[in-house]
Amino acid sequence: MINKTAAIIAAAGMGNRLGANLPKSLVKLLDKTLVEHAVANLSPVCELIIVTAPNGYESEYTKILGDQVKVITGGVLRSDSIRIAISKIPANYEYVLVHDAARALASTTLASSVLNQLIQGEQAVIPALDVIDTIKEVDSKGYVRNTLNRSSLKVIQTPQGFSRSILERAHQASEDATDDAALVEALGVAVKVIAGEDRAFKITTPSDIATALKFLIPDSDKKYKVGIGVDAHAFTTDKTRKLSLAGLVWESEDGLDGHSDGDVAAHAICDALLSAADLGDLGSNFGVAEAAYAGATGAKMLAECLVKVKSAGYKIENVSVQIVGNRPKIAPRRAEAISALSKALSGAKVSVSATSTDGLGFTGEGKGLSAIATALIVSA
Ligand code: CTP
Ligand code: MG
Repeated sequence: MINKTAAIIAAAGMGNRLGANLPKSLVKLLDKTLVEHAVANLSPVCELIIVTAPNGYESEYTKILGDQVKVITGGVLRSDSIRIAISKIPANYEYVLVHDAARALASTTLASSVLNQLIQGEQAVIPALDVIDTIKEVDSKGYVRNTLNRSSLKVIQTPQGFSRSILERAHQASEDATDDAALVEALGVAVKVIAGEDRAFKITTPSDIATALKFLIPDSDKKYKVGIGVDAHAFTTDKTRKLSLAGLVWESEDGLDGHSDGDVAAHAICDALLSAADLGDLGSNFGVAEAAYAGATGAKMLAECLVKVKSAGYKIENVSVQIVGNRPKIAPRRAEAISALSKALSGAKVSVSATSTDGLGFTGEGKGLSAIATALIVSA
């Protein structure tokens, strides 16, 4: 069969410049190691992936990469590693992508563009970026020798793609080179340059990790804002008023006074949300005496606050509320309360806790309940 594509991922370096105290390819970026990112990005366009591991780390690489890849022991130099890997590719593979695990974030799209050029008949294809800075040659004494013509210079990346026979021949020369295209050039074969991508940069030094994370978390420039809210209500003497608290009705507990249902937990969360979004507070938004809110449930207020927070361009990351008072005991209905509050907030993460105040203050004397809440919101 023809047209089969193999990828070699060079991952046998120790990453001395990164200084992570483990091979660079095993360094984690969020949920995956560099080599796992590289494999995940290339696997959609390759039938076979060979990963070169540092001597002694083979089983560790096999463990994290599973059966989908073939792990082999790399050589002393990168070009040695590639040469060993080429020898392991079965004869029926026509195209080979050679990639660095250190360029872990190079996209599947880039690999696919390289491969497309091979399919269209190119024998060697490399991705590249334009040079932004002026480049000068400098002598060993620190003096400029000359200034290069920037317009014809390119920064070369991987994955580089080759017809298998060309790559094999190039490596038979057994010379060292930091990229495989250089060996192919030495054979006099035309090497096609296509547009590379910023995210295919080589992770080399510690500051590159932060740069890489920015590609993985495009929302790292999202704005997080925190808000706080407090509410308190006295127990009512009106025996017909049931206790509304944390989105639940508590039968046979004393109710709380208030224009609305008096749900201190819901109201504290509302204030926390409004304050996080710079939207004022419950009073300034709903009016304490507004007829429309007479007897309004905590759930209704929460839902309306959520709409306001959303309109301001935010979504809720989480809210947390603590209820302060002697009774009711919250723990037995905590899960129910969380689910009621969360439902009112369209599924937002909610946590509910409670405390008594050791007999102190109006809550300790059993005169009422209070609640304090925080909300974390993030620009949507
Ligand atoms: N590589 C390899 N075999 C070697 C040396 C390097 O497979 N004998 C791989 C590295 O794992 C890396 C890629 O070649 O993915 C490019 O090399 P580089 O970025 O220099 O990685 P390291 O050699 O690991 O880093 P350093 O030079 O800082 O030690
Ligand atoms: Mg190196």
